[in-house]
Amino acid sequence: MKYPKTQFSKSIRESERVSSPFLIKYSAVATGKTGKPYMNVILTDKSGDLEARIFDQVPKYNSQAVKDSFVQVEGVAQSFNGRIQVHIKDLVVLREDEVNVAEYLPESYLDAEKLYAEACLIISSMQDPFYRALLESIFVDDAEVASKFKKAPAAKSVHHAYPVGLLEHVVSIAKTLDFLSKQYAPHVDRDLLLVGGFLHDLAKIWELQYDRVTDYTTEGRLVGHLVMGSELIEKKVQLLESQSGRLPGPFPAEKKLLAKHVVLAHHGKLEYGSPKEPACLEAVIIHMVDDLDSKVNAIRVFIEQDQATGTWTLLNRQYERYFYKPEWARKS
Ligand SMILES: [Fe+2]
Ligand SMILES: [Fe+2]
Repeated sequence: MKYPKTQFSKSIRESERVSSPFLIKYSAVATGKTGKPYMNVILTDKSGDLEARIFDQVPKYNSQAVKDSFVQVEGVAQSFNGRIQVHIKDLVVLREDEVNVAEYLPESYLDAEKLYAEACLIISSMQDPFYRALLESIFVDDAEVASKFKKAPAAKSVHHAYPVGLLEHVVSIAKTLDFLSKQYAPHVDRDLLLVGGFLHDLAKIWELQYDRVTDYTTEGRLVGHLVMGSELIEKKVQLLESQSGRLPGPFPAEKKLLAKHVVLAHHGKLEYGSPKEPACLEAVIIHMVDDLDSKVNAIRVFIEQDQATGTWTLLNRQYERYFYKPEWARKS
């Protein structure tokens, strides 16, 4: 390997000289207090992200430090507001064949095959033949869905933003919904809850691209995963109706509408991107469980990755508060 990976983001300490290749996750030019331009850069590798700044020769480096490119970084690590920040003195753009790409993509601690099997097991326990056939046509019959679902993150940055994160999120929600279906029986439909649990974010496998740095696709930006999910339900119901013996009769129109509704309403409010607010008990529960699971994951990961020593995290800008660090999260 022409440019071996010698330093990883997470192991870099204050005052350390940095001389190693990284993948550029983000870069933008900003203006300092004196009016002088500088660059905000986020470097990444399989261990995580690393903040960096470029203060000199900004026009030159602006054309080189481009998102998704591999660069050999020369610089020094400094401490800024309690975080490590690399001051880049020089960088050289590398070709993909000059690095070992796997060392730059986030690793997942999750077992995708096991999680997928768990999802299929829950689907096989559904009682309603129409809702079960709908989920089987997507999770069991569709090889493209299976292969993408075993890789996709659930988001670009907010929650479960790592490979297999979407599957982790969906299985976690399905288990919670299964529990709540018993708690609120007989007034909620377990199978409709599971339809929402499994399908609400499914179209993120096409809304996002995740071969390198995660970003939105054109379809994701123009249509979005709620409407794409509803379109998928329409398509799969038509497919099931065209296959003899798949359904005990025509797919009931109301069930199809409810399946679409729980997907379209799962963001809860119009200003959060839902074209409809939850209008049935199942949609309310799916929205709240989705919100809960996203927040638990986002805050857990924030606490886990926080660089501060001691009892409290650095300020979380999204939640505008400091979080208490329990024993498991404290650095020795
Ligand atoms: Fe969503
Ligand atoms: Fe979700």
